[in-house]
Amino acid sequence: MAFGIYLHVPFCSVRCGYCDFNTYTADELGGPDVVGASRSTYIEAALSELARVPERTVDTVFVGGGTPSQVPAADLVRFLRSVDDRLGLAPGAEVTTEANPDSVSPQSLAELREGGFTRISFGMQSAVRHVLSVLDRTHDPERVPQAVAWAREAGFEQVSLDLIYGTPSESMDDWRHTVESALEMQPDHISAYALIVEDGTAFARKVRRGEVVMPDDDETADKYLLADDLLEAAGLRWYELSNWARDEAAQCRHNVGYWNGGEWWGVGPGAHSFVDGERWWNVKHPAAYAQRLAAGESPRADGERPDAQARHLEDVMLRIRLAEGIEPALLGDVAPFIAAGWLEPLGDRVVLTRSGRLMADRVVLEAVGGE
Ligand SMILES: C[S@@+](CC[C@H](N)C(=O)[O-])C[C@H]1O[C@@H](n2cnc3c(N)ncnc32)[C@H](O)[C@@H]1O
Ligand code: SF4
Repeated sequence: MAFGIYLHVPFCSVRCGYCDFNTYTADELGGPDVVGASRSTYIEAALSELARVPERTVDTVFVGGGTPSQVPAADLVRFLRSVDDRLGLAPGAEVTTEANPDSVSPQSLAELREGGFTRISFGMQSAVRHVLSVLDRTHDPERVPQAVAWAREAGFEQVSLDLIYGTPSESMDDWRHTVESALEMQPDHISAYALIVEDGTAFARKVRRGEVVMPDDDETADKYLLADDLLEAAGLRWYELSNWARDEAAQCRHNVGYWNGGEWWGVGPGAHSFVDGERWWNVKHPAAYAQRLAAGESPRADGERPDAQARHLEDVMLRIRLAEGIEPALLGDVAPFIAAGWLEPLGDRVVLTRSGRLMADRVVLEAVGGE
């Protein structure tokens, strides 16, 4: 079974109003020099947690955030080297980092590539200035093609772009322009997620006060279909509901591992792990995380062993989203879904049809939600 290491980098220069990931600005952490809060010493804590991972060959490494590019590239390379020295990277291992377009440079990208990173995923979100501004994104749209060009010059063969659709004020033409601009950069992979209003965020408060209005579901569905049309026409095939890749080699193997029930160890504050049927998560605050490790303690906050029913529901929820399809037995009686045009047979499996992709949650709910 595939085994992945995830490293969470819990820092951002600015918090985007819509995001509820476990990440902090320097101000939120009480300044740049607080123990565990310092970007320059963070990797020490992460390396102490890595030293606790039992020996096992690693197939994929994914550095996410937060903003990985907020810590020095040399530290990310040091972490990767330690993964290889302590656990061993499998031949051809995939090593990804996320990056914000405005916190990379030709030097940092070259350092990452030379240090063994094979894949980079830029948070582009939109090519339209007024949409980026509703999202509180700090980068200039022109910065993205520049960052992609630097990544190519540095030797990255796998470049991915993250997009968001359904932002208030985004027209259909804005979204078309975003997808077309992304395609002009010839990425190997694109993720496109609908904007989710997360409770407790500044963005959710704006929606509640009526300062911004979320689009209706039909408009969001049309944007999904438009993206799928444009991406497929450009040779990027969907392999998971919100992910398209140039070919199989360009798929994100780390995420495919998550979706297919693989195991991973998540290093960092608030990171989740899943190993030997057990799921656990770390303390959320970077200072608490660093203190625990400095005291020789585990950073784990709590954990659980999901029962067979919970595992089954999760398995179906994740795997139904894959273009390779899912065994019909996992869904029970699939005939009504096939009759509705939401599922179609694929060899001995069933797979969501194009319209079925818009109904994935409902299929899961009706098939196994009431178990
Ligand atoms: C958490 S970020 C980490 C990488 C990097 N900081 C960035 O923003 O690209 C990973 C992806 O999650 C997306 N994301 C965060 N909150 C979201 C939300 N409420 N709805 C949809 N996507 C979201 C971000 O836009 C980004 O593309
Ligand atoms: S979306 Fe990315 S850059 Fe924005 S706050 Fe979340 S993690 Fe940070």
